[in-house]
Amino acid sequence: MEIYLRPVQRTLSVAAGVNLLDALREHHVPVSYSCLAGRCGTCRCKIIDGDVLESGREAQRPLVGEDRYVLACQTFLTESCTVEIAEPDEVVVHAAKIVKAVVLAVEDQTHDIKRLRLRPAKPIEFSPGQYAQLQFTPDHIRPYSMAGLCADGELEFHVRLVPDGRVTGYIANTLKVGDAVRVSGPLGSAYLRRKHEGPMLCVAGGTGLAPILSIIRGVVAEGMQNPIHLYFGVRSERDIYGRQWLADLQLQHSQLHVHVVVTSGQALGCRSGLVTEAIAQDWRSLEGFRAYLCGAPPMVEAATLLVQQMGVLPEQIYADAFYASGT
Ligand SMILES: Cc1cc2nc3c(=O)[nH]c(=O)nc-3n(C[C@H](O)[C@H](O)[C@H](O)COP(=O)(O)OP(=O)(O)OC[C@H]3O[C@@H](n4cnc5c(N)ncnc54)[C@H](O)[C@@H]3O)c2cc1C
Ligand code: FES
Repeated sequence: MEIYLRPVQRTLSVAAGVNLLDALREHHVPVSYSCLAGRCGTCRCKIIDGDVLESGREAQRPLVGEDRYVLACQTFLTESCTVEIAEPDEVVVHAAKIVKAVVLAVEDQTHDIKRLRLRPAKPIEFSPGQYAQLQFTPDHIRPYSMAGLCADGELEFHVRLVPDGRVTGYIANTLKVGDAVRVSGPLGSAYLRRKHEGPMLCVAGGTGLAPILSIIRGVVAEGMQNPIHLYFGVRSERDIYGRQWLADLQLQHSQLHVHVVVTSGQALGCRSGLVTEAIAQDWRSLEGFRAYLCGAPPMVEAATLLVQQMGVLPEQIYADAFYASGT
């Protein structure tokens, strides 16, 4: 049995029943992975032809057209097939690990957003835009996106308090400076593509600003010159935060264009409506763009459809929507 790999044009001989990720790693094919358990989405590949057996589903991502995406770590090969692997020159491998951390600060950003800063006992390597699973107690575990960079020496998260939310309620009412938190990660495939030199569309809804800030900070730290068009959507004026951080980043990156879009009401210096409406008003085509979409699932799903219709290639849309865990 053989796997033909695109775009690297390699053919691997493999045994029937082998796991796709194991086969790629055994043959030293550069491929991103992290959790090895179907959770992080980092090992996502596209099946071009042939049939495979999946033991997990790509539940964390909206379906993109008819394309058949699978998680390599959850896929077993049953016949010869052609597989498209994600940009081999953008591979990131940060083995997922569990690190103890302590709470440095829990600060108010808005009426319902807290900025949580943690000091990890050991450094955690991650790429800008990734997230981690935070365990506050055995019963309080949720994923949150890093807002900073691994060089910071501390981890920054932005948490929006959900009404009657179990874990966000714990963060708001019980968590205090000095408490221990277990950080497990990094996870996620919506990380900054460092080799890309073209324009970037960044869409953040609410605390989706956290991973987007990390990505923009990554662009600045790497000395990348890409034009960045950020659309930051919030419900109303009181939900806007992070404007000073964005202004500071604009001073360091003159090609960063920021649009704050308020869904209801008006706010000084902001646009009104939905982020998707603002994007559709501003652009006729987004061909050649890479799109980073972060925040609540309905916004991410609507933005995914829109940017795809406007010419962004499905494999160049990077999104880890904030799906509720339900446990
Ligand atoms: C990959 C990933 C990254 C994430 N990153 C962040 C982040 O950086 N910042 C952040 O604030 N959150 C983030 N989240 C969401 C976060 O993990 C929790 O789901 C959220 O904080 C609610 O947890 P909870 O225990 O308080 O609510 P739960 O007790 O789980 O839910 C309470 C109720 O609120 C609903 N609900 C849960 N989450 C939301 C929501 N986001 N919007 C509306 N209703 C909701 C539930 O359906 C339920 O009815 C991320 C999620 C994922 C999957
Ligand atoms: S390594 Fe496959 S989903 Fe995480």
